[in-house]
Amino acid sequence: MSRTDILMTAPMMPIVIETLDKAVTLHRLWEQTDKEAFLKEVGPRIRGVATSTLFGRVDASLLDRLPNVEIVSSFGVGYDNVDAAEAAKRNIVVTNTPGVLDDEVADFTLGLLLATLRKIPQADRYLRDGKWLKASFPLSATLRERKVGIVGLGRIGKAIARRLSGFDVSIAYHGRTQQDDVAYSYYPTVTGLAEACDVLIVITPGGASTRHLIDTDVLKALGPNGVLINVARGTVVDEQALIHALKSGTILSAGLDVYEDEPRVPQELIDLEHVVLLPHIASASVHTRNAMGKLVADNLISWFDGKGPLTPVAE
Ligand code: DGY
Repeated sequence: MSRTDILMTAPMMPIVIETLDKAVTLHRLWEQTDKEAFLKEVGPRIRGVATSTLFGRVDASLLDRLPNVEIVSSFGVGYDNVDAAEAAKRNIVVTNTPGVLDDEVADFTLGLLLATLRKIPQADRYLRDGKWLKASFPLSATLRERKVGIVGLGRIGKAIARRLSGFDVSIAYHGRTQQDDVAYSYYPTVTGLAEACDVLIVITPGGASTRHLIDTDVLKALGPNGVLINVARGTVVDEQALIHALKSGTILSAGLDVYEDEPRVPQELIDLEHVVLLPHIASASVHTRNAMGKLVADNLISWFDGKGPLTPVAE
């Protein structure tokens, strides 16, 4: 019996490649020198795609060349790299990797928050640059007794809130609807949340519905002692508005793991000393990336074993 042909769009953890190599015929798109010719020849045989939120897009133009695809299995909880509406029109199932990264991203968010407030990366640079020999490091802000607002109280947002409750802070959130099972204060508008808080943590899905949710008005509402942390998608924050707010002192500082046009980061952000900039690594531990990769493979294997997708996205 012939093996199922699967297209992988970008390299993934060895565990995904090894697992899929055993079960299916895996085609590595990134290794093809002439991708167009390759897709023309092999595209019609492809029945499943393994892709990643971190690289490339699966959109109508790629799907046109893969007319027999049944499932797109995407690495990452965010799946704004896949045109899920277009896939749904073609009856293609889309899966992501929820659940397995919640704790990792939540731990990381607390790390980024403390690093930003207490200027930990800046202090490291200060010491290495020999500045400590001349003067003490400038004093920082503090987390204690602040009000922290979470934009998007999904699984990861709740994991962040649980960790924050170990600090002496009050917690509030904004989301589409108020949730009955949590005691944190709810704000129906993000501007209202920003006005009430000193720290805003963004952990809402990306995509058209949240594009530039954090705009000039929200940053003004956050105010001159305000700190913005974004571990969601770069597109949720209007980056130019943020740069302006940081330069003009409209807010105090920011900690960013994501950007509007990754992996490009505006030089204006890089030039700012009061921002902590990280290269989209919230889930990037060996343990968690392996778990995410395993779920990418397991979704494909389960589908082609006739058992259905394990973690389909809702579209
Ligand atoms: C995700 O899972 O969407 C992250 O942003 C990538 O690790």
